[in-house]
Amino acid sequence: MDTLTAIQTRNSIPHLEDPAPTHEQMSEVYKGALRAPDHARLRPWKFIEVRGEAREKLGSIFLETANSLNQDLTDAEVEKLLKAPFRAPMVIILAADVKHHPKVPEIEQIISLGTAAQNILLGLHDMGFSAVWRTGQMAFNPEITKHLGLQENFQIIGYLYVGTSMGKEKPLPEHNLDDFLEVWE
Ligand SMILES: Cc1cc2nc3c(=O)[nH]c(=O)nc-3n(C[C@H](O)[C@H](O)[C@H](O)COP(=O)(O)O)c2cc1C
Repeated sequence: MDTLTAIQTRNSIPHLEDPAPTHEQMSEVYKGALRAPDHARLRPWKFIEVRGEAREKLGSIFLETANSLNQDLTDAEVEKLLKAPFRAPMVIILAADVKHHPKVPEIEQIISLGTAAQNILLGLHDMGFSAVWRTGQMAFNPEITKHLGLQENFQIIGYLYVGTSMGKEKPLPEHNLDDFLEVWE
């Protein structure tokens, strides 16, 4: 698949099953992620790949986090949190390793990780895998950072749920470019 076709045809897929990409395939995908734009070469990127039974641990961390946010959880909510990582054979936690820098604010570092995440989505799509980026309550809060065992400077900006499409793919949206583009010349 050529680059422009990959970019134009990527489609987020929430219904995912095995197989997940192999470690070797993911090595290639991460090489693309590590080519994200990065002001001052701060490398604000950390990817935590959670596969197979390790998804149980992630579900427990989601539950601990929700409990520490003082939520009065119902049984159904507890079940949902524990099962959340099992929505795909593999989950990639996107953790921004935010550094203090006089010229590079936190937002730039988070954007850099966001572009790395997009490169992951595109690399997976190129290989025939599918994924969806999710956030929700388990992103952008210090409690999830702590429960994942990361230092306080890390920001969890989301999760890529990765696997093989179960076949239910939405049509790609059709946009009117003029709604988004202004050209000065
Ligand atoms: C930062 C970010 C967070 C997102 N969080 C969620 C989410 O929690 N749940 C969800 O269903 N979609 C979420 N999305 C949207 C999906 O990843 C996806 O972009 C959307 O379903 C549209 O599909 P498309 O990417 O194929 O256009 C998020 C997207 C981004 C960029």
